[in-house]
Amino acid sequence: MTAKTRIVLSSDHAAIGLRQTIAAHLATLGFEPVDIGPTTSESTPYPQHGEAAARRVASGDCALGIILCGTGQGIMMAANKVKGIRCGVCSDTFSARMIREHNDANMLSLGARILGDALALEIVTAFVTARFEGGRHATRVEMISALES
Ligand code: RB5
Repeated sequence: MTAKTRIVLSSDHAAIGLRQTIAAHLATLGFEPVDIGPTTSESTPYPQHGEAAARRVASGDCALGIILCGTGQGIMMAANKVKGIRCGVCSDTFSARMIREHNDANMLSLGARILGDALALEIVTAFVTARFEGGRHATRVEMISALES
């Protein structure tokens, strides 16, 4: 039996329900969701949750990460401060596929106050099933990584 690909999930208070819906969806697709919360709707600052998920990915504990806040923007900004993270906000399936195929994104950020559940799940599916194409795109991703040092 091969190990399932682990995907970490986190959010702020604006996205608890959608995050849990996405976790269940990932399980049906054959992935192992690693939902690190939070679980209550009490107001909580998105930077700490973006960082916590990003560290799981940067350390190699999880292959990919999916994070959410109201717009997806603030938590994405926090995650991208962690070395090794490439996270994009997506509101469409084309972008979700392309940030994997061309940018080798290892995290996806979603806006729970922007997306309906059905579209969010399609975006997640597009992201987790796409593969980095490498080739000329690898050189460009290396250039992004070089900005970290
Ligand atoms: C919280 O109210 C809201 O600011 C947050 O969820 C997010 O949209 C920030 O980017």
